[in-house]
Amino acid sequence: MNAQAPAPVTVTVTGAAGQIGYALLFRIASGAMLGPDVRVKLNLLEIPQAAQAAEGTLLELQDCAFPLLAGMEVFEDPVKAFDGANIAMLVGARPRGPGMERADLLKANGGIFSVQGQAINAGAAADFKAVVVGNPANTNALIAAAHARDVPASRFTAMTRLDHDRAVAQLAAKTGAPVSAISNLAIWGNHSASQYPDITHATVSGQPATELVDQGWIADEFIPRVAKRGAEIIAVRGGSSAASAANAAIEHMRLWVQGTPAGDWTSMAVPSDGSYGVPAGIVSSFPVTTSGGDYTIVPDLAISEFSRARIDASVAELLAERDAVAELGLF
Ligand code: NAD
Ligand code: LMR
Repeated sequence: MNAQAPAPVTVTVTGAAGQIGYALLFRIASGAMLGPDVRVKLNLLEIPQAAQAAEGTLLELQDCAFPLLAGMEVFEDPVKAFDGANIAMLVGARPRGPGMERADLLKANGGIFSVQGQAINAGAAADFKAVVVGNPANTNALIAAAHARDVPASRFTAMTRLDHDRAVAQLAAKTGAPVSAISNLAIWGNHSASQYPDITHATVSGQPATELVDQGWIADEFIPRVAKRGAEIIAVRGGSSAASAANAAIEHMRLWVQGTPAGDWTSMAVPSDGSYGVPAGIVSSFPVTTSGGDYTIVPDLAISEFSRARIDASVAELLAERDAVAELGLF
């Protein structure tokens, strides 16, 4: 090996033995997230009961002989798993079952993210970046950031790229356009049924999407279909989304690290800076552009009355989640 090759990027994946973890690890090791020239070291964090299954995944990763995979290890101790981490994919959490709402998960999963926030604070790399996938993802990101006082809160984001991709796919199906023709769609708010998938600024092959679909379809079919897609997958598949969630997590981090294409944006839940009237600090989804490893909330978009009401409703849910975890002493 070239002695001057850059050090591998350390990627910590929590919940590594779970269904999303299994769909994620091989693609990260193949270069799908950080690019075809970037070597990666994978730190897999699991609870003791699932550590052996994670060791089994290491055997399979070895058998793939990925040229970019520079090292891999299973950890049960979060402090060791996050030591030197450049990137964290915070997946490990209990998934929602049939009939459960995300609020039911606040207590069960909030405790995981406080401990992991402390471990990140103890030893993550200076350029640390995290995406929270485990639900309730936005509020878990808030909890993790609150327990990592020395790491800028802006490095803790939550995934709404799955919602973004779902929205793109629904708009493509409705208009008969390829998904690649769709730009500037946005997800606002919480990764929950209150989210607002917004096509106000979206274009389809350069034409405003709102000229191609009617308001009735947007309000009565598109928004609820996208916002409740997680529950639809659970009902039909008998388990929560896995490969599509892993794909979205890779896209979230790939775009954050490698940049959004000119003329388009992505959706990321990030700590609000007060933009668009979203109270500062809560982790809410916005349209963002990324460049040089940083993200910027897309500024100065016109917000219609219809959009305003939906953004406000989802933000109200996030504020209620924040208050609930504050009562539990997690924030
Ligand atoms: P899973 O049950 O298959 O896997 C979860 C894994 O996390 C398990 O292996 C478990 O042992 C592990 N785990 C639990 N506590 C842990 C801890 N403290 N440290 C490390 N690992 C721990 O679940 P899954 O289907 O992979 O889903 C994971 C999470 O992702 C769930 O919360 C689910 O609701 C969420 N999810 C989010 C989105 C999104 O769009 N944001 C989409 C799909 C799923
Ligand atoms: C999803 O959107 O598929 C996940 O967040 C799973 C869920 O509980 O909805």
